[in-house]
Formats: sequence, structure tokens, C-alpha cells
Amino acid sequence: MRIGVLYESDEWSDHKLAHELARTFEGEAQVRLIDMMDEDAISEALVCDILVSRVFASAQFRGHGAALARMEELIGAVADAGVPLVNPGRAHGFEVNKVAAMQALADAGVRVPETFAQGTPEDLDLAAVRFPAVIKPVCGGRTTQTCIVQTLEEAQAFLGAAPDIPFMAQAYISPAHGFITRVEIIAQEPSLIVKRSVAKNGLSAYRFGSTYELYPDCPYAIVEASKVAAEALGFFFGSFDVIESEHGAFFIDANSVSNVSEDCTEIFGRDLMREYAQTLAHAWDVTSHT
Ligand SMILES: Nc1ncnc2c1ncn2[C@@H]1O[C@H](COP(=O)(O)OP(=O)(O)O)[C@@H](O)[C@H]1O
Ligand SMILES: [Mg+2]
Repeated sequence: MRIGVLYESDEWSDHKLAHELARTFEGEAQVRLIDMMDEDAISEALVCDILVSRVFASAQFRGHGAALARMEELIGAVADAGVPLVNPGRAHGFEVNKVAAMQALADAGVRVPETFAQGTPEDLDLAAVRFPAVIKPVCGGRTTQTCIVQTLEEAQAFLGAAPDIPFMAQAYISPAHGFITRVEIIAQEPSLIVKRSVAKNGLSAYRFGSTYELYPDCPYAIVEASKVAAEALGFFFGSFDVIESEHGAFFIDANSVSNVSEDCTEIFGRDLMREYAQTLAHAWDVTSHT
């Protein structure tokens, strides 16, 4: 049996997942890391029995846009060839389109901030935006090119300096408790929930020095909504960013590829990539014998 791990960013977590898959499946599987920047990636992927995607929407900001384009091609090719892909192609579609992800969540009854407008800096209709708002790339990640704007002038200034890619303007949700809730999904179930602090600029991100804390007493309604969200977006693995505000909890972001750094394992005493590997082994064992 061959397992292909599709990657583009050469993260610690990509290698860790491949290592844990090899360990979990022992001699039963050959694990290959397939570089989606490589022209032969699709033909390498098609000889695998199962594929796991580690291709992030943020690839476009790291000079890895070619991996995203190849991913589209791969999704069509594996569907034709019948090779299972985790997450499914549909989920990747939400990874690379935040507007579509928010719409699908809203359709499933999950509360999301209002999307005011979308478009390139030149096209985005600022007349439709109510302030404060957040402007962020439709295909984004890692809080790149993301800004809280309080006024029309601030929005104009931000877009005036922004790259020529599609952005969305979304209602700003004020975090009532100074943190963002990150829900990690494994086998479509909320598995690890942490608080991520909001930095001085109002944003919450690893690279702005946000700190993490376990959140065992996360409200039940968020846990339940996360299950609905995972099902709606086809996330076998993934994560959601939720903001708890004075007006209730809003799902602000959905990630079909969840990234963890080595120190997360130490902080939380949980090894997500090992859990991914074990969950896949279990799911594969179940499906291959039925
Ligand atoms: N609607 C919003 N209200 C408040 N803060 C937001 C909102 N959208 C994004 N943010 C902030 O920006 C960060 C990055 O936005 P997010 O949608 O999670 O994109 P990504 O993580 O893919 O870069 C979030 O972690 C949060 O701190
Ligand atoms: Mg996010």
C-alpha cells in the first residue's frame, strides 16, 4: 500500500505526519512525500492508494502558487482515477476560498460574520462595507495581508497598498475575552480546543506572538457547531477559528489543512500529527475491510 503526503511548504508538520504514518502503518505501507511544486507530482500521486493533502492556501504568499494550481488539476485527476484524498477536493475548495467557506457555514446554520463585499483592491465595493471591518485575502492564511479597518479612509489606504488579488471585507467581531477559539478537528469531530491570545494590533496569529492555552471549558454550543461545520465543509481533518463576542460566537475562519509546530506538542501534551496518522490507519482499516 502506498500513502502519498502532498506538501508544498516543507513544514515540520509535513515531515512529522509522514513519519507518524510510516510508524503507524508499520511495514504495511510505503509513505511518500510528494512535492506539489514538482511537475511530476500528479503522476506520483496517481500511483498511491490514499493521499493526504498538506497544501495550504497561504502557498500563494510563499511563491508556491504553482502548488495550488496543480492541486486543482490533481483533484480532477484523483476523482477520475478513484484515489481517495483526505481532505476531499471540496474541502480544499473551501481552504482556498474564504467567501465560499463562510457561505457554506451560513447555509449549514453556523453563525459567521457578514461578508460585505469581495473583489480585487480596485473592484471591492467599499460603499457596501460597514465599519469596523476586517479586510483579508479570499485565498489567505497566516494572517497575511489582513487588517482591521475602522473607517472608509483606513480601508482605502489598506487596499491602495495591497497586492492585486481578491480580498473580502467581513464584519469585525470583537473578541469579548481577549482570545480566539481554535477548534482542531479529527475524524470530523472537535478534538483539541485552545485559546489563542489577541495581539496588540487586534489580530491573533502565531507570528504576532499570540500565546496558546488549553480550553477545556469551551462552551458546548461551539463544540456542537464545530461538528456541523466540519460536516458542512467536508473536513475530516482541519480547524476552525471562532470569536466569542458579546453577541455570541462567530466562526471567522476554516482551515482544511491545520498546521502545528513542534512546540504545540510540548505545550498541550498532544501530538496532532500522530493522532492524524492513527485516525487514518483506523479509518482505512475500517473502509478497506467493508
Ligand atoms: N471578522 C473578524 N473579526 C475579528 N478578527 C478577525 C476577523 N477575521 C479575521 N480576524 C483576525 O485576523 C486573523 C486572521 O484571519 P483568518 O480569517 O483567521 O485568516 P487566516 O488565519 O487564514 O490568515 C484571525 O486570527 C483574527 O485574529
Ligand atoms: Mg485563521
